Amino acid sequence: MVLQDLKLFNFKNYSEANLRFEQPLTCFLGSNGSGKTNLLDAIHYLSFTKSAVNPSDAQNIKLGESQFMIKGLFKMNEKTKEVVCSFQQGQKKIIREDGLDCQKFSEHVGKYPVVLIVPQDIELIWDGSEVRRNFFDSLLSQIDHGYLENLIVYANFLKQRNSTLKMFAERGQTDHDLLASYNEKIIPAAKFIFKKRKEFLQEFIPTFQRHYQNLSDSKLEKMDIQYRSDLEGTDFTELLTKNLPRDLLLQRTGSGIHRDDFLFLLNGNEVKRFGSQGQQKSFLIALKLAEFQTIAEKKKFKPLLLLDDIFDKLDDIRIDKILKLVSEDTFGQLFITDARPARCREIIDRMSLKAGVVTIENGKFTV
Ligand SMILES: Nc1ncnc2c1ncn2[C@@H]1O[C@H](COP(=O)(O)OP(=O)(O)O)[C@@H](O)[C@H]1O
Ligand SMILES: [Mg+2]
Repeated sequence: MVLQDLKLFNFKNYSEANLRFEQPLTCFLGSNGSGKTNLLDAIHYLSFTKSAVNPSDAQNIKLGESQFMIKGLFKMNEKTKEVVCSFQQGQKKIIREDGLDCQKFSEHVGKYPVVLIVPQDIELIWDGSEVRRNFFDSLLSQIDHGYLENLIVYANFLKQRNSTLKMFAERGQTDHDLLASYNEKIIPAAKFIFKKRKEFLQEFIPTFQRHYQNLSDSKLEKMDIQYRSDLEGTDFTELLTKNLPRDLLLQRTGSGIHRDDFLFLLNGNEVKRFGSQGQQKSFLIALKLAEFQTIAEKKKFKPLLLLDDIFDKLDDIRIDKILKLVSEDTFGQLFITDARPARCREIIDRMSLKAGVVTIENGKFTV
C-alpha cells in the first residue's frame, strides 16, 4: 500500500497543503513547531479516523477556521482509493472512501494501516496500564473488526453501568434489572476481548522476541510480555455478581477487561525498573516492528511506517539496525521527520535509498 498524494485544508497549522509522494521514503524536515508531526497526524487520521496527538477533532481545525479536510490517495493492488476525512464544527466527522460515506468507522480502521513510532512511546513502559491496553487495542483493531466492535460495545455499556451505579448511590436504591441489562451486553464483549487478547499474545510474543534479539547483542536477555486480567481463571458473570456490593460502594465497575494489563518483563522482572535505557529503547522498537510484521502478515500488504523524531532518541547502533531493515526491504512506504536536516540527509545517503525531502516552514513547503 502506498500513499501517493496528501491534501490538507485548514488542518492544524496548514491552511492548504498539497503533497505528492513518489519515493518509498519521504522525509519531513523543519524546525520544531513547523508542522512535521501534523503531517504524520493527518496520515494517522486517514487510517484511524482520529488524531494520534489530540483526541479533540475541533482542536485540530486550524485556529480561527470552522472545518478541516484531509484527503489521501492510496494505491493498493494497482487500484487507487481516495480517502477523505473532514470535520466541521458542531457536525459529525465524515470519512469518505471513493465518494461514499463510511457509516461505521470501526469498519474503516485497518483498511489503510499505519504503524507510528514516536519518542512518547516510552510511556508504554513508564505509564499505567491504559497506555498498554491502547497499544494492543489499536493493533488488534486494525486486524480484527470484531475486536473493535466489541471494544466499543464494552466501553459504551461500562460507561452507562458506572453512571447508573452512581445514580443508585445518590438515590439510595438499586435497580437490579437495569444492571442485568448492562451486564448482558458487557459480559459477552468482555469474554470476547479477553479471549482475543490472550490468543493474540501467543502469536505476537515470539515475533516480538525475535525482533528484540535482532536489535540486541546479548542473547542472555529474555524479554517477555505477560497478560494480566481479572477474567483469568474466573467466570466473569460470577465475578460481577460477587463484586456488586463493592461496585455499589465505589460507584464504578471494579473488575473487567478495562483493568487488564500487559506486563513488560526482562528476565522475569519489570523492564521499567530493571531495564537499562538501551534495553527499554530496543524493547519499544521491537514492539513496534512486531506490530508492523503482524499487520503485514494478516493484511498481506505492508502498512505505512511513520517515524516521528526518533533519531533524537536513538543511538547510532539502533539507528543502523533500523536502517538495515529498511535496506533489506522490510518496510514498504516510510515517512520520517527530523528537525536536523543535515543528520537526516546523512542517514538517507547511508541507506542509499531514493528519498523525497519536504522542507517545512510554518505550515509551508519547499520540496
Ligand atoms: N488547531 C491548530 N491551529 C493552528 N495551529 C495549530 C493547531 N494545532 C497545532 N497547531 C500548531 O502546529 C505546530 C506544531 O506542529 P508540529 O507538527 O507538532 O511541529 P513539529 O514540526 O515540531 O513536529 C504548533 O506551532 C502549533 O501551534
Ligand atoms: Mg514533532
